[in-house]
Amino acid sequence: MSSNESVEKHYSVHWQEEGLYQAPPEFIGQANCTDPGIYEKFSLDKFPECFKAFADLLDWDAYWHTTLDTSDAPCWRWFVGGRLNACYNCVDRHLDKYRNKTAIHFVPELEEEKIEHITYQELYRRVNETAALLKDFAGLKAGDRVTLHLPMTPELPITMLACARLGIIHSEVFAGFSGRACGDRIWDSESTVLITMDSYYRSGKLLDHKEKADEAIKSAEKQGQKVDKVLIWRRYPGTYSSQTPVVDGRDYFMDELLKNYFSVVVEPVSMPAEDILFLMYTSGSTGRPKGCQHSIGGYLAYVTWMSKYVQDIHPEDVYWCMADIGWITGHSFIVYGPLALAASSVIYEGVPTYPDAGRPWKIAEELGVNIFHTSPTAIRGLRKAGADEPSKYNYHFKHMTTVGEPIEPEVWRWYYNVVGRKKAVIVDTWWQTENGGFLCSTIPAVVPMKPGSAGPGVPGIHPIILDDEGNEIPPGAGKAGNICIKNPWPGAFQTIWKDKERYIETYYRRYNRDPNSKDWRDWPYMAGDAAVMAADGYFRILGRIDDVINVAGHRLGTKEIESAALTVEEVAEAAVVSVNDEVKGTVPDLYVSLKPQAQANEELAKRISNAVSEVIGKIARPAHVYIVSDMPKTRSGKLMRRILASISNYKDVGDVTTLANPKIVEEIRRQVQD
Ligand code: WTA
Repeated sequence: MSSNESVEKHYSVHWQEEGLYQAPPEFIGQANCTDPGIYEKFSLDKFPECFKAFADLLDWDAYWHTTLDTSDAPCWRWFVGGRLNACYNCVDRHLDKYRNKTAIHFVPELEEEKIEHITYQELYRRVNETAALLKDFAGLKAGDRVTLHLPMTPELPITMLACARLGIIHSEVFAGFSGRACGDRIWDSESTVLITMDSYYRSGKLLDHKEKADEAIKSAEKQGQKVDKVLIWRRYPGTYSSQTPVVDGRDYFMDELLKNYFSVVVEPVSMPAEDILFLMYTSGSTGRPKGCQHSIGGYLAYVTWMSKYVQDIHPEDVYWCMADIGWITGHSFIVYGPLALAASSVIYEGVPTYPDAGRPWKIAEELGVNIFHTSPTAIRGLRKAGADEPSKYNYHFKHMTTVGEPIEPEVWRWYYNVVGRKKAVIVDTWWQTENGGFLCSTIPAVVPMKPGSAGPGVPGIHPIILDDEGNEIPPGAGKAGNICIKNPWPGAFQTIWKDKERYIETYYRRYNRDPNSKDWRDWPYMAGDAAVMAADGYFRILGRIDDVINVAGHRLGTKEIESAALTVEEVAEAAVVSVNDEVKGTVPDLYVSLKPQAQANEELAKRISNAVSEVIGKIARPAHVYIVSDMPKTRSGKLMRRILASISNYKDVGDVTTLANPKIVEEIRRQVQD
């Protein structure tokens, strides 16, 4: 949908309001937050000082003098003057009490491989040694950016924490992304070091991952960014499991280098709170991914509070978030949040259905997982592949989370009844890469659950629904609009890396009251989602209003997929639309038209589909590639993606008589549907 079409017109409400579910008494009895007055403590009249309660969950080297500095609005600076180290807060400070407690349970995908239980002591050792290597061998220091392209093994959080220890800004790229996508991010972040792994398991296969590093470097160099060193963790230390040659003087094996750093201790660098902890690239309306820049103090305080009071993490809990650390959910809720609270966090290498759909429940039983966190796509997939599997395993969840997409009430109920056995609370957490942590969710022992609704704003977050003119749509009006947040919060990203203009343009311009204002009240944050607010203040999220498509909970830009298709010589125009899918929520369909001499055939369609995997990654592969003789367009030449989306979704295309070429619509409809 383009920005000048109304939100309301395009977002119908998926399902009706459901009844409420109360948290089980056993949960309430042990919950970190049972205070009904919690919302009051974070009311707007207490803003921003109320967020001191968030920061107080951390150990600070120096307290801040200014809680919120708005002088560079809307680039908010939190806890200014404060100093701390994120790695110290996630590792060192737990040693006194929890030295021998498991910090990370690593579950390899192959069942015949042993589960690794890494204590806080061991984590401390490995992080220090890695930090020493990054400092002395790679020459990295505070403020440098380093790109990580690591899969789901303990080396990923170890590397992140080693960076944080030194104040190095990590930029982890999801391992499923292609070498080229990684190269773009190396270039944008100006990294001179790439940290990768030789291989990892996915669906029972040992994938060659190092080959992507070579592509990444080639593509970064083409754009002018030279990479001096590639540091390679090996899935099996001592054995190189990749077919890709090692480049002398550039590529190094971490396990070999680390031998020089055994037992070395690196003091955590005391960092200004508003310095950068990491970049996380995400998709937006244009082809170029945005580097969301997250701060050290604000971000860590925010995810720690959310982990404690929304995720209800206690140090003795075994917490499993099944997301990938390559996405924001994994950063916040596998690594930083749980470790800041001294929990035991589970990292699982592979796919949830390997070797069968009972695997997650088997792992939960084996490790005593009591908090479980996943996406609607995973829930739908596990339900489809093995609806009875949970009953075969002896595990006890007290708490379950869903994140990333709207969850259908029917799927929610399976999660609640079958996975949670009616004994676990569910939180449906709505937020984004940009936000650091949750925006809407219930506080599980305080307000009841409602299937299909994310719940009210979390304490300290004040959401509103605005219509296209900027008027507030009142609760219970049953009308969709743009969900916005009235106030800044500590977990919010600081800006888009090197692109403040785009930051303001994308999130603030539309509803800003005065571009020169330094008052946060003039800068509501526009999330880019359509939502409805019920009379009771619960929010139902309906979907993106921009050119972002949510495939299996992974956020992709339609423009990124389109420009990947356009790398194929024969393609003249490309249009991506999102299509409803039973398991993945939505998937992309790709429509292309060809240059005059080109021949439409299956081989070409396949080549176009492959180009998308090569440029972005397999997750972006279109469900269908339709080569059409022309695209539906308005008289002014605007490509009507909405019409194509209606065809792909078998919906009424509406009135097309005003198009420049109305006849093409019926032709495409027949091609797709007949
Ligand atoms: C969608 C993931 C409905 C939404 C943390 C948002 C959701 C985008 C929910 C961000 C939810 C996330 N219910 N939709 N509970 N959570 N979304 O940046 O469209 O990968 O804008 O962050 O996912 O995706 P991102």
